[in-house]
Amino acid sequence: MERACPLEMTSKQRGLDPQPLIVSYSYSGNTHRIAKSIQELTGGDRYEIYPWQPYPMAFPELLNQVKKEVEHGYHPILLPGAPSPVSYQVIFAGSPNWCGTVAPPLASWLYKNDLSGKILLPFDSHCGGVPADFRKDIMKLCPKADVREPLEVIGDGGGLVKERIRKWIQENLIFNG
Ligand SMILES: Cc1cc2nc3c(=O)[nH]c(=O)nc-3n(C[C@H](O)[C@H](O)[C@H](O)COP(=O)(O)O)c2cc1C
Repeated sequence: MERACPLEMTSKQRGLDPQPLIVSYSYSGNTHRIAKSIQELTGGDRYEIYPWQPYPMAFPELLNQVKKEVEHGYHPILLPGAPSPVSYQVIFAGSPNWCGTVAPPLASWLYKNDLSGKILLPFDSHCGGVPADFRKDIMKLCPKADVREPLEVIGDGGGLVKERIRKWIQENLIFNG
C-alpha cells in the first residue's frame, strides 16, 4: 500500500511523521537556507556539515581544490558531532552543485554512514551552470538507500522556495508498504 506524505493532508504547515533528518553542507549559505525551509515545513531535525579543514576563500584556489577532490572521489574528514542516521527513516541531504556533482563534504557524510533502506531526498543549490545528477551520484555513494528525485534550486530559491519544496515532498515522499 502506498501512503502519501502527511503534508498534503492539510493546508496548514504541520510536522512530518516519521520525523526526518535534514543534513546539509553549504559554502556560501544557499543550501543551508533551503535546508531551513525544509525544516520549517517538516519539523525535522537539522544538522549542518562542516569539513575539518575549511575550504579556501579565494575562488581560483577553491575551484582548483574542488576539481581535484571530485576527480579523485576524495571524502574529506568532517567536524565531529553529526547525529547518527540510525533512528531516521527519511533523510533530506543537500549541498551545492560543485563541478556537476555533490560537494565532497556531503558525499563524505553519505558514504561514511550506513543508509541502507532509508528514504533519501537529495537537494542542491546551483547557479545554472554545469548540471548535476544528484540521484545518480548519491545512488553510487549509498547503493542500498532508496534515493528519490532531487530538488534543484538556483541560489536559495527566493520567496517561492517553500512552495517548490512542498510540491517536491508531496510528489516524492511516498511510503511503500
Ligand atoms: C567550486 C565551485 C564549483 C561550482 N560548480 C557549479 C556547477 O558545476 N554547476 C552549477 O550550476 N553551479 C556551480 N557552482 C555554483 C554553486 O553551486 C552555487 O553558487 C550555489 O548556490 C552555492 O551554494 P551554497 O551557498 O550552499 O554554497 C559552483 C560553485 C563553486 C564555488
